[in-house]
Amino acid sequence: MPESTPSEAAPADFETSSDLHTDLDRSVQQLLLDERPSIPPRFLYDELGSRLFEVITALPDYYPTRTEAALLESSIADILAARPVAGSTMIDLGAGNCAKAAALFEHARPAHYVAVDVSADFLEQALSQLRPRFPDIEMTGVGTDFSQLLDLPAGIAADPRLFFYPGSSIGNFSRSEAIEFLKSVRAAMGPESTLWITADLDKDPAVLERAYDDELGVTAAFNRNVLLHLNRVAKTDFELADWRHVAHYDRAAMRIQMHLETIRATTVHWPGGERRFAKGDRLHTENSHKYTVESFSELLAIAGLRTVEHWTAPEDWMGFFVAAPA
Ligand SMILES: C[S@@+](CC[C@H](N)C(=O)[O-])C[C@H]1O[C@@H](n2cnc3c(N)ncnc32)[C@H](O)[C@@H]1O
Repeated sequence: MPESTPSEAAPADFETSSDLHTDLDRSVQQLLLDERPSIPPRFLYDELGSRLFEVITALPDYYPTRTEAALLESSIADILAARPVAGSTMIDLGAGNCAKAAALFEHARPAHYVAVDVSADFLEQALSQLRPRFPDIEMTGVGTDFSQLLDLPAGIAADPRLFFYPGSSIGNFSRSEAIEFLKSVRAAMGPESTLWITADLDKDPAVLERAYDDELGVTAAFNRNVLLHLNRVAKTDFELADWRHVAHYDRAAMRIQMHLETIRATTVHWPGGERRFAKGDRLHTENSHKYTVESFSELLAIAGLRTVEHWTAPEDWMGFFVAAPA
């Protein structure tokens, strides 16, 4: 865990982990050869993917962003009363355009804002626009894949930290991955540190499927863009016209599953390999797990975190949890 000591230099304005692109082509190509081929969801977020996600958050069908915003607005006083966070280092996990954290600065009053995201160019642009608006808050950007390692810059204060993980992004991990990830967050928290995290709750499948397959087709574009990203970074030759977006709620597994499905037989090539797909074959691109308040609190507990308090939105669509080291 990075510790701040007087002799340590302050972190740079922006750091990109050296292994962000290492072995990318080989690992992705290997996954494409699996019996059930998949693409890690972080590949949804190149610069265009991050812009498309911003548009998704404005869609009438995409309830999570507006539901979470309403929940935070109505509960912020209670959230702040549940556990003090002023003066913390606020660490925004999957910060995207940093808008959610920025909207909370006046309440959370962080001393230092550390924004972490795999979409490094997009994050760097967002931070450069944010700095002049909040000259009193030190800001550091970190371009890294935190599913591999929660790699925080040396020189940031060890405690108190406020980890902020909104948007129900924890749902993109499987249960075991989520536990491992939460354990890594727990390991980076001191006794006075806090986690603010949103979990999406189980609900009517029709509401869920509309949110992940909107009428304007923006989520379809977001999903299909992963192929353009792979063509660039993994040197594949996916043809966009061969693939369509599919989103389905698996009630038993309590998760939305996003796939890309071939509309005709096609072969994808890359240097040294290829994969033939028959018509109707699928590539798995993302899961979005849904929880109950109980199942999510249990997940936190397994990772060594106690739920200080939680709030649910109207109709219990989403849950916001304040957690602390157990
Ligand atoms: C669902 S978006 C949420 C964005 C924003 N926090 C919000 O709530 O609207 C997920 C964000 O996490 C980032 N992300 C996804 N996988 C990641 C990974 N493995 N490591 C780091 N960032 C990741 C994406 O680039 C994206 O900005």
